[in-house]
Parts: sequence; structure tokens; C-alpha cells
Amino acid sequence: MLAGKHILLIVGGGIAAFKALDLVRRLRERGARVTPVLTKAGSEFVTPLSLSALSAAKVYQDLFNLTDEAEMGHIELSRAADLIVVAPATADLMAKMAGGLANDLASTLLLATDKRVLIAPSMNVRMWDHPATQRNLATLQSDGVLVVGPNEGDMACGEYGPGRMAEVLEIIEGITTALADGPLKGRHILVTSGPTHEPIDPVRYIANRSSGAQGTAIAEALAGLGADVTFVTGPADIPPPASVHAVRVQTARQMLEAVQAAPAADAAVFAAAVADWHVVNAGDSKIKKDGSGLPTLEFAENPDILATVSQMKDGRPRLVVGFAAETDDVIAHATAKRERKGCDWIVANDVSPETGIMGGTENAVTLISDAGADSWPRMTKDQVARQLAQRIAEAIT
Ligand code: CTP
Repeated sequence: MLAGKHILLIVGGGIAAFKALDLVRRLRERGARVTPVLTKAGSEFVTPLSLSALSAAKVYQDLFNLTDEAEMGHIELSRAADLIVVAPATADLMAKMAGGLANDLASTLLLATDKRVLIAPSMNVRMWDHPATQRNLATLQSDGVLVVGPNEGDMACGEYGPGRMAEVLEIIEGITTALADGPLKGRHILVTSGPTHEPIDPVRYIANRSSGAQGTAIAEALAGLGADVTFVTGPADIPPPASVHAVRVQTARQMLEAVQAAPAADAAVFAAAVADWHVVNAGDSKIKKDGSGLPTLEFAENPDILATVSQMKDGRPRLVVGFAAETDDVIAHATAKRERKGCDWIVANDVSPETGIMGGTENAVTLISDAGADSWPRMTKDQVARQLAQRIAEAIT
């Protein structure tokens, strides 16, 4: 899948830079062409010679190098590749990207490019956890930058936690999905996923058992067919796939806002297990046992995101797919739900505890559309996702 693809690889300065050499080797083994760009800090960890030898290509280092500008200007360099990969992406590089700085070759290329960008962050755990880095990460993700890792583990500096660059094979997987050429290439698809958390006070919330597994698998399968996926996720157990543009939210109301802020979509899949209510009298500070009796929570209904989008007058996605989690009369309830909400398809599943579906790895679904109810055999959530993505591709292309 990588054969013939051209990757511009920006190598930042960090101990993980040595893994960039292995990344180059493995990308080339898979038939990709790699043009390396080495930052000044990166050159403290790996030499231009080793990068050039492994990539069999010229290594670009300076913004103001007349020879390079004569051969290939920095604007052209930023656009000649199919994908830009930053590995390792240091805290400094991420900050420059988020701030739109262009004060060296790497940051200038990243600002000038019209191609997708995938980063593999690598830094000390405190630097990763710092609010500034987390702010920059959120900015980059909302700009559409794809993020692989970082992983949790022992760090070169002796600390433990998230900050280690993702393994080379994980980065390759992210690159492969980002470059996927498929029937959904050029289509934008919105996917909601995960539970929502509705606060009771700053430390307590109401949630549900959704792990986000099915929504995540669907987003990944759609991206695997070439779609540009906006993935709006509540606090799920598993991280969003690297190949999607992830928007993290907590509550149903934030999920609706994120859905409405997303670019117009060709299709939308609502796999989130959205809480039906939120607490109106949620405390600004922790509710205490002060002897005055039990607290009373007042509820208000959350907006129905699926129904809102299904009933949009302008800019409604061509195909709107909802889910119906039911415990009895699955097909009858789901058919009524499709009518009530106005979506095109409903993927119905039986979430009674004995099925082990909610929070499990398998799913047994019935696809309800104009054509009637089509029950699929029980299969893994990944298989359901691939089959659904395929059906969506057939419906909108
Ligand atoms: N949904 C939504 N916004 C809500 C509630 C649900 O977008 N506030 C979406 C879900 O993502 C799913 C579909 O609506 O695609 C059905 O969700 P489900 O929980 O089965 O249905 P409810 O509308 O909550 O109905 P009920 O609880 O009465 O079964």
C-alpha cells in the first residue's frame, strides 16, 4: 500500500531520533520514497550521512540554502510529498506548529504544506503532560494533524509515563491508513463515539458502559477506505485511531457543538452512547455530606444529536447512520427509532447483559434501512466496522 508513495520525513531533536533511521528503512522496504529533513536539534542525535544513506536521498537541513532553493524551493518541497511525517515530534516542534511559526526549514515546510501531516510525539512525561503541550496537541488535532502515540513506558530520562515515541511499526500503520487510496477518498465522514460524562459536581459524573470500541473501529475502517474522518469522541477506554481527526468532548452538549462545528460531511455515523439527561443543578464545588439530607439531582434532557443532524434543512449529510442499543424487541424498537429520528439507516444491537456486547469485542447487528432489516451474523466489532464502512462506500460513491 505504500509502494510509490512519497513521504517527507522531518526528524526532530530527541533521543527517539534514532528510531527515525529504522522508520526510513522500513518505509523503503515497503516501496515508499523518503525525503528526509533534519532539524538542527535532530542533527545532534542522528547524522545527515546516516539518513541520506538509508533513504538514498538528499537530506534537507537549511531554509536559506541557495543550492536547495535553486534545485527545489521550500514551498515545492512541502508539497511534493504525499504525506509529511514528523518523527520524533518534540514539544518545541509541536509548539511551533500549533503557533504557526516558520523560523527554520521544518516549521516553514509544515506551515507551507497543503498535504496531510502525521506526527509521532516524543518527550519527557512532564513536558507531555504540561498544559501548554496538551493545548498545542488539541490545536494540532483540530487543525487536522494526525497523531500517533506517544506510548507509556520507561523513558531515557529515567521517568515513567506517556511520552515515548510510538514504535516504528505503529507509525507505519498510521502512515498506511493516512495514505489509503480507497473508494471514500475525498469524502468527509463524521463519526461520534464513546460515552458522554455528565457532571454532578467537579468530581462526580453520570456515565454509561460504552467503551468506544465500535465507534473507533468504524472510524478506522472508514479512514482505511480513504475517507477523511472527523471523530467526535466522549471519554472512551481506547485512544482515537491515528488516521482520523479526533475531537475530544465530555458532555452531550459539547458533542453536539463539536458535530455542528465540523466541516460539512458526506455521511455521518452516530455510534456514541450519548447520555439522555444532564444534571441541571450540578455543583460548582464538591457536594458535601453536610447532614442536611440526601442531595436531589434535577435532570434536563440532552439534545438529540442524531435527530438534530437527520432533520437538518441545509447541509444534511447524504447518509445519516444511527445506532440503536436495545434490550428487548430489538428490531421493532430500532425501526421505530429510525422513523422518529429521521436517519437513513439504523444499526441495531441487543445490549442485554447476557449478550456481552456492551464493553465486549463482538457485536451482532441488524442494519435497518428503506430496504428492510438485514441481520448480520455475530462477528468482531472490527468486522462489523469493515462491513459497515463498505456499505457506506457503496451508498455514497
Ligand atoms: N443519540 C444522539 N444523541 C442523544 C441520544 C442518542 O445522537 N442525545 C444517538 C446515538 O448516538 C444513537 C442513536 O441516537 O445513534 C440511538 O441511541 P439510543 O441510546 O439507542 O437511543 P435513545 O435516543 O437514547 O432512545 P432510548 O434511550 O429511548 O432507547
